[in-house]
Amino acid sequence: MKNTYFDLVDQTFDFPQEEFTLQDNCLHFHGIDLYELIKKYGTPMKITYLPKISQQIQAAKKYFNDAIDDLNYNGEYFYCYCTKSSHFRFVLDEVLKNNVQIETSSAFDIDLIIKLYNDNKITKDKIIICNGFKNDAYIRKIAFLINSLGFTNVIPVCDNRDELDLLDTHIVKSFNIGIRVATEEEPNFQFYTSRLGIRHTRVVNFVKDKVLTNPKFKLKMLHFFVDTGIKDTTYYWSELRKALKLYCNLKHHCPDLNSINIGGGLPIANSLNFEYDYAYMIREIVSNVKNYCDDEDVPSPDIYTEFGKYTVGESGATILGVIGQKQQNDSELWYMVDNSLITTIPDAWAINERYIMLPINHWNKEYTRVNIGGLSCDNADYYNSEAHLNMVHLPKFSKNEEPLCVGFFHTGAYQDALSGYGGVKHCLLPSPKRILVDKDENGNYVDWMESDTQDAESMLKLLGY
Ligand SMILES: Cc1ncc(COP(=O)(O)O)c(C=O)c1O
Repeated sequence: MKNTYFDLVDQTFDFPQEEFTLQDNCLHFHGIDLYELIKKYGTPMKITYLPKISQQIQAAKKYFNDAIDDLNYNGEYFYCYCTKSSHFRFVLDEVLKNNVQIETSSAFDIDLIIKLYNDNKITKDKIIICNGFKNDAYIRKIAFLINSLGFTNVIPVCDNRDELDLLDTHIVKSFNIGIRVATEEEPNFQFYTSRLGIRHTRVVNFVKDKVLTNPKFKLKMLHFFVDTGIKDTTYYWSELRKALKLYCNLKHHCPDLNSINIGGGLPIANSLNFEYDYAYMIREIVSNVKNYCDDEDVPSPDIYTEFGKYTVGESGATILGVIGQKQQNDSELWYMVDNSLITTIPDAWAINERYIMLPINHWNKEYTRVNIGGLSCDNADYYNSEAHLNMVHLPKFSKNEEPLCVGFFHTGAYQDALSGYGGVKHCLLPSPKRILVDKDENGNYVDWMESDTQDAESMLKLLGY
């Protein structure tokens, strides 16, 4: 038979791959036998393979440091973890094994920093980059870190003019700041200039009026972030060059300025045929910064990144069981899964994000075109296209066989925060259990349940019952 699910994948992609392999018609993810995990814990479940987080960080550090060495670049590279992509303690514990810095985005994020500090996970010299539009609570907590706890490398990045006054009011000593320059959005976007940061043409005057006139502020960092990601496009390189031009211009006025922060946006695989040359892109970034600054006789800045999705995205998977099949007409077959897609992978519903979607078992069965239906009553609760194809295929199976299980891979970033893991859920469908997988010192897999399926009591309590 040449129309099994395996044949389909084999004919479409280079398969198996380093991360995805097959044994006894069941899928392995980073060598983890997913079907065994399902038998042990049941679906629906979220899995995090912790070592992948460190692998990602180490790989990016190597790409940057190799480029720095090759190009004789006279600055350092700093990897900051963008906490908003996943705030879980087990993620931060893994991230912090890799000597990285941290980027925050809200007041509670600073509580998270304080907790890590109190637990001796970080020290006062950790670089804490505070991004985002800052409300009063956020400003006060940043001030608490600097004034009361004595953190020495906090860098609030100014999103707007008023923030500087508020920081000045609350912080009692001299401190470093960054300025976020607002990028121009991609031409097909709804807005021309990003709402995040200060408009390009206003930055120099802002610095002259507000920063250089106050000895408390040391402008250390220029921050820019192209929200659509780091891509080899004219748009990306032109935004980078604009930021470099501004950096060089500011450097003539601000002796403390020594860092450029290019934010996040390093992509991850959303299909088995994903191709991205990380080494090339990173080398190009470093080389652009160097060449631009050399031409302007400006020392090469230290380079900071705040990769979120890249750090944690590929460590995560969401595994759902197919609990029913509905043939609604001749061509529309629905596979009904045991949780809501809207709440387990909300980016798929909200911004049409695609993930690597693969069956866990039944790879030797014939494949068929399906729509995957979520368990909520919302008619938008479905998944029926992939990044490489405007349809979804899965193995056929019958009622008297083992149920099919389906995995959405690389779902480790943002999905839990957006769906409010453990909160009130659409149609009261609970947050799935969370399984963590690690390797022990002998290289053997160890797995455990970090949190069980959300129970009715905790959800009803939030609802006032
Ligand atoms: C300021 C800033 N830095 C970093 C990131 C992380 O981006 P990504 O997850 O694409 O790496 C974001 C995401 O919104 C951001 O706003």
